[in-house]
Amino acid sequence: MKFFLDTANLDEIRDAASYGVLDGVTTNPTLVANEGGQRGFKELVREICEIVNGPVSAEVISTDIERMLDEARELAQIHHHVVVKMPLTEDGIRATKKVSEEGIKVNVTLVFSPSQALLAAKAGAAYVSPFVGRLDDISNIGMDIVREIVGIYKNYGYPTEVLVASVRHPVHVVEAAKTGAHIVTMPYKVFKQLVKHPLTDIGLERFLSDWGKTKK
Ligand code: G3P
Repeated sequence: MKFFLDTANLDEIRDAASYGVLDGVTTNPTLVANEGGQRGFKELVREICEIVNGPVSAEVISTDIERMLDEARELAQIHHHVVVKMPLTEDGIRATKKVSEEGIKVNVTLVFSPSQALLAAKAGAAYVSPFVGRLDDISNIGMDIVREIVGIYKNYGYPTEVLVASVRHPVHVVEAAKTGAHIVTMPYKVFKQLVKHPLTDIGLERFLSDWGKTKK
């Protein structure tokens, strides 16, 4: 399973990349806005692409087909790691089809149902992003749709990769892995939580203290 970081924060990305297990990054307009706009959007995306040796999702903010196409082509020019994020709207699907045919990789975002995911795959999306946390928030089991999407894609051999998004805790990561989803994108906090277990800390403390008592 591939691990992506869901952030636009350069320090978080550098730290996660230093583990050697980071496969990509996803950003969205909210995450970019959270960075306070000290850098321009394109400059920020370029810097992220230089840190991460893998796909970096950057989202279009237009909602009409012509401007979405222009934006997608501009974003794709920034760096060869850039994957253009398109919302799952009617024009989002049209734009996905068009730019995918031009060789631009698209991550279709704001996906909340298997029927939406099927459309994204048919339009040639490289990635589809079901939002599990936001479904959980409204009392739907987000992971259920991930399981359905993975099954549907397998039935037809769609190459679209399932990128589990809106992840809130380490259990989401493990549950996503059990579905066979290709990728999970997680906030930095969740990435850091993956390594933690109190018994590991206690065990290490005991080993080190016992070692301290042995003759060397
Ligand atoms: O990047 C999209 C997604 O991961 C957002 O997550 O926590 O705002 O629902 P969240």
